[in-house]
Amino acid sequence: MKAAIILVLSTLAAASAHAAAPADLRAGEKLVKTHCISCHASSFGGDGSGIYTREYRKVRSFNGLKAQVTSCNTMLNLKWFDDDEQQVVQYLNQNYYHF
Ligand code: HEC
Repeated sequence: MKAAIILVLSTLAAASAHAAAPADLRAGEKLVKTHCISCHASSFGGDGSGIYTREYRKVRSFNGLKAQVTSCNTMLNLKWFDDDEQQVVQYLNQNYYHF
């Protein structure tokens, strides 16, 4: 019971932390490079990052970014943990979205 409460609290803390540690950013970058870039690059050219910076991009908020990463994870059946998603969100936000 106690462990469950601690787990919930730490999950909440992780979800609300916008400030990213460098190690998380590196981990997020690696996940994106491994799983996400090739497909974005094939439709948007270059290194694929144009998808995040295009004028009519879909993601408009920090929560929107989280939702998009979660739905990519689900759609691609990557089975990422919350931590992985969080690292990818931090990486994309820090480098492209700047919410
Ligand atoms: C099979 C191809 C494919 C893969 C793999 C893929 N994406 Fe995407 N992604 C797309 C397409 C296509 C869009 C644009 C959708 C649209 O415009 O409606 C997109 C859009 C996005 C956006 C929104 C960009 C915006 O407009 O702001 C984000 C963020 C994103 N993808 C993240 C990811 C992440 C993270 C992964 C890896 C887990 C991933 N994608 C893997 C095809 C892919």
